Amino acid sequence: MFSSDKNVQDSCIYVAQSRPVNNLEKDVRCGLLARPRCLPPKYFYDETGSRLFDQICDTEEYYPTRTEAALLRQFSAELIDASSPQHILEFGSGSSRKTRHLLSACERLGVACEYLPFDVCEEMLLQVSQEFNQDYSWLDVKLLIGDYTAGLDYLHQPSGTCMYVFLGSSIGNFSVAEARAFIKEIRRCMKPGDSLLLGVDRIKDHDVLHAAYNDAAGITQEFNLNMLQVLNEKLQANFDQRKFRHEASYNSVDQRIEMYLVSEECHTVHLKSMDEQIHFLEEEKILTEISHKYSKQGVEDLLTDSGLHILKHIEAENAYFSLVLGRL
Ligand code: AVJ
Repeated sequence: MFSSDKNVQDSCIYVAQSRPVNNLEKDVRCGLLARPRCLPPKYFYDETGSRLFDQICDTEEYYPTRTEAALLRQFSAELIDASSPQHILEFGSGSSRKTRHLLSACERLGVACEYLPFDVCEEMLLQVSQEFNQDYSWLDVKLLIGDYTAGLDYLHQPSGTCMYVFLGSSIGNFSVAEARAFIKEIRRCMKPGDSLLLGVDRIKDHDVLHAAYNDAAGITQEFNLNMLQVLNEKLQANFDQRKFRHEASYNSVDQRIEMYLVSEECHTVHLKSMDEQIHFLEEEKILTEISHKYSKQGVEDLLTDSGLHILKHIEAENAYFSLVLGRL
């Protein structure tokens, strides 16, 4: 079988939005031109930002990626055995690096299945499709192109048993209420026997959390400041990175890391393409990301609140990270 001959175009599906999502101009208008200032974390990920995020994952301090990958390496067979998926649908799949553990387990267990990565970045999906057709010749890959935050009403429904996957503690970027709402949306897509695998970062020692978002090499700082560069390019703006500093701290009341860009002096920035200007005060902050942390119970509540029952809850030995598998 010449798997590399598979026509990639034949296995692409565009997922229509159930509700509109803001474009950059709209997000800037409601987030940056208003107070308190904020911007959605999705604007981190231009080419430079994506490369910086990969570098963050390789820092000593940033434990989530390697902890989750180790759990997947060790427990994928158990997870696949418990859910027997005919389809694996992954939200925000990106480079699908960690998902390889699940697919390798399918291979070892002789579970033939279809992989449906769902992502906004078509280029990345095509890359994954090419790699996976080569590395897993037995695997069918169907690309789902779209924004999973725009609702799941029009999500392609696989016919057989489906394992929905949401890894990397991406759910941490949502508020708890938004996280619950999103899992309820996934729940509405599920048929009896379908499952949901969630990777969630846990509440832990505050120094460990703080260090993970303030790595000594300054990569997270660069990642955060890069958002200003993204605005400069996309809005013909004139942000000066040197006038801002990176700040990330753990808010123990709301149980989340909050990441800010702090203006170190009073100054004005112009957004040429929008014909707007922003007056920053000294020490004025822009909230660029929240990263929610969950207790063991909190992780389970996310699933049980939507009517799913917990099949497996796998935690790292140090309890830094959870993989939880729920079933309808
Ligand atoms: C990709 C959202 C899970 O919140 O830890 C890493 C992003 N930001 N360092 C996280 C991130 C700064 C990451 N998530």
